[in-house]
Amino acid sequence: MRITKVATVFAEGQPEETVDVRGWVRTRRDSKQGFSFIELNDGSCFSNLQVVVDAAVAGYEETIKDVTTGASVAVTGTLKESPGKNQRIELHADSLKLLGAADAASYPLQKKRHSFEFLREIAHLRPRTNTFGAIARVRNAVCDSIHKFFQSRGFLYIQTPVITTSDCEGAGEMFHVTTLDLAKLAQIQTEIDFSQDFFGKKASLTVSGQLEAEIFATSLGDCYSFGPTFRAENSNTTRHLAEFWMVEPEMPFYELEDNMQLAEEFIRTVIGNVLERCAEDMEFFNLRIDKTVLETLRNITENDFIRLPYTEAVEILLGSGESFEYPVEWGSDLQSEHERFLTEQHFKQPVILFDYPRTIKPFYMRVNDDGKTVRAMDVLVPRVGEIIGGSQREERLDVLCDRMTECDLDPKEYWWYVDVRRYGTVPHSGFGLGLERLIQLITGMANIRDCIPFPRTPKNADF
Ligand code: 4AD
Ligand code: MG
Repeated sequence: MRITKVATVFAEGQPEETVDVRGWVRTRRDSKQGFSFIELNDGSCFSNLQVVVDAAVAGYEETIKDVTTGASVAVTGTLKESPGKNQRIELHADSLKLLGAADAASYPLQKKRHSFEFLREIAHLRPRTNTFGAIARVRNAVCDSIHKFFQSRGFLYIQTPVITTSDCEGAGEMFHVTTLDLAKLAQIQTEIDFSQDFFGKKASLTVSGQLEAEIFATSLGDCYSFGPTFRAENSNTTRHLAEFWMVEPEMPFYELEDNMQLAEEFIRTVIGNVLERCAEDMEFFNLRIDKTVLETLRNITENDFIRLPYTEAVEILLGSGESFEYPVEWGSDLQSEHERFLTEQHFKQPVILFDYPRTIKPFYMRVNDDGKTVRAMDVLVPRVGEIIGGSQREERLDVLCDRMTECDLDPKEYWWYVDVRRYGTVPHSGFGLGLERLIQLITGMANIRDCIPFPRTPKNADF
């Protein structure tokens, strides 16, 4: 017999239909009239399927005592209209088989609510909880929608390398990749000779696929990369991970305005898709995690984003009368508190800040005619702050080389990147969206560590 998913039972199941379902027991309760009720979840949807097992059912006597929270079971039976008002349909078992017991004394997940901190310590079991099941389904729907958004617009999906010898963001926050025996080397030489290393030079895990995506965009047209990126920044915040996923579209012939337009449409479309596809999970987030999350998301899908030059943002912040922890002055990077003030309090809407000072942005951003600012854009959203960073790229060979030198980068080492400007250069633009920050925005989860299956943060790479 074919196994039926619980989601399919709820969507299509008809009374008197025979089905075979399998999954994990959330709870069991025994009635005095010789019945047991099992709440069964198989991950296919938020709701549990209520399974009614008569004591007369084959296997009942031997197995029922082991059908405890966390145990896995296979049930065949007949669907019946449910008398309860919470669900349309329930399953009356003809046979019940215990697949794997879960010792009630040691199984860590109990019916009570567990803290997210505790659940991070048992990340191998947390997908079995309501919250983490819902997050996983939302994350899946987001990824599907991301691919559909770009595929439907004719973008080419490019797989950019994970191991790299360049530093895209120029921040030096990279994890090294080496096969050298560092402990041994430390005893015999003070400076490490990377020419002896696997790649013949110092290699790292990538912080961004942008530089390689630019190569494909300026050869084949609109493209996007979507994969894991790594940052060795030691920031223990609720918005930073050492390993996170980034989607990076790159478009030839786009100027900054086109880039902003695409970013806005992109966020709006993905959120709209998830609201529709994951309605049940989203109701849960709105009820149990953040009571404003649906309102925030609808506000994003229904209103245009504010577009504001960095210089005007600084003026608003200086005139706000707020006492920020970090001072605001033209030329310094905005902190999360400033970003959140703009998007949560001042505008109460997503804000795209653009034209940042050149001194606080990477070498590849196009320099404006004023010489002081670059064509950067950051998309800021309520609660999360920066969700997208992007720019129009510097396409002028001489300006790019000057900027690299200014940023302490040797254009000779980036000869292939510079070549793209030497041969058939075109204006082009792109951006990067942090997947986990988008999941944070959509689910209302307070900590980004709960928005990726297995978070990597300072001092933590378990599971
Ligand atoms: O602003 P960032 O550093 O931009 C880039 O890497 C560009 N190369 C992207 C491009 O233009 N193709 O990072 C982009 C986004 C941020 O806005 C944020 O959402 C996310 O990546 N991000 C992080 N997410 C989680 N943990 C971290 N440590 C993150 N650092 C950046
Ligand atoms: Mg950024």
